[in-house]
Amino acid sequence: LKSDLLAEIDAAGTPDAIEAVRVKALGKASPIAALMKTLGGMSPEERQLQAPRIQGLRTAVGDAIAARKDALEAAALDARLASETIDLTLPAPETPQGSVHPVSQVMDELAEIFADLGFAVATGPEIEDDWHNFTALNIPESHPARAMHDTFYFPETEEGARKMLLRTHTSPVQIRTMTKTPPPIRIIAPGRTYRSDSDATHTPMFHQVEGLVIDRGIHMGHLKWTLETFVRAYFERDDIVLRMRPSYFPFTEPSAEVDVGYTLEKGRRVIGGARPDGWMEILGSGMVHPRVIAACGLDPDEWQGFAFGCGIDRLAMLKYGMDDLRAFFDGDLRWLKHYGFAA
Ligand code: PHE
Repeated sequence: LKSDLLAEIDAAGTPDAIEAVRVKALGKASPIAALMKTLGGMSPEERQLQAPRIQGLRTAVGDAIAARKDALEAAALDARLASETIDLTLPAPETPQGSVHPVSQVMDELAEIFADLGFAVATGPEIEDDWHNFTALNIPESHPARAMHDTFYFPETEEGARKMLLRTHTSPVQIRTMTKTPPPIRIIAPGRTYRSDSDATHTPMFHQVEGLVIDRGIHMGHLKWTLETFVRAYFERDDIVLRMRPSYFPFTEPSAEVDVGYTLEKGRRVIGGARPDGWMEILGSGMVHPRVIAACGLDPDEWQGFAFGCGIDRLAMLKYGMDDLRAFFDGDLRWLKHYGFAA
């Protein structure tokens, strides 16, 4: 019996198989258990002779099973370690490289250009209330400009609470800055803005950069010089000319829309040239309305300033020759590569 059992133990090749042998050899229905039971019916002399032999058999078989089980488990671990070995000398697989998104890159460029002119970067929340987005900017409740903005409103929570919305422009950052920081103020505020609008040139989320200067004795000349300096630095050409057209924004007076001159080179519009062939609109601007300055708790007789707001996506498209705004938000590496943004 002993040599039979030891042979079975030796033959077991897996931890499961050795467990089956253990149940068969030592379990309740095993031959060893049956032998143990016979001890009860023996004479004392006989039992004294047989008990150590049966016990010895049981211990030998139990030890052999435990040893075999350890060996099998060690072998299984070795096999796993061997199969999971990493060869550090193999060349690494190629993974595609991402890059800074063109819009983020343009925001960084803008922050750098304006830092040289003494402007700090300010931020405000994308979830705004209607006071900062409209009322303080001289756009009262009934003003048609509210309808023109295609605003995304949040459902009303409490009666009489300020209406919450996704900011439709970066201009509320003007208000947040003027109510928090005493003048003189020189900031730009780049960020996301939202309007319920979608086609090849409009996405519901887009980017703007706001500019704001508040100080004593600020006039349109400062505005024009600042915009000219910015546009020439951004497009990297000294011969860019600007045209200011009278316009209307409730929060600036006077207001001006600003165009950059382009020249035609082989039928393509290239920004720049002392004698432009045409004009492209790039931003809205003006002198901050005295009512806006007063709404922020400042004395408009003491403080004046200018502001401008500019679409960043469009700035990026113009600089890098991209033609469909929607591609900005597809995250397609081939598109980034095509315009030289991804490796
Ligand atoms: N907020 C305006 C817009 O989104 C742009 C603007 C900003 C105009 C500041 C004048 C001054 O169209």
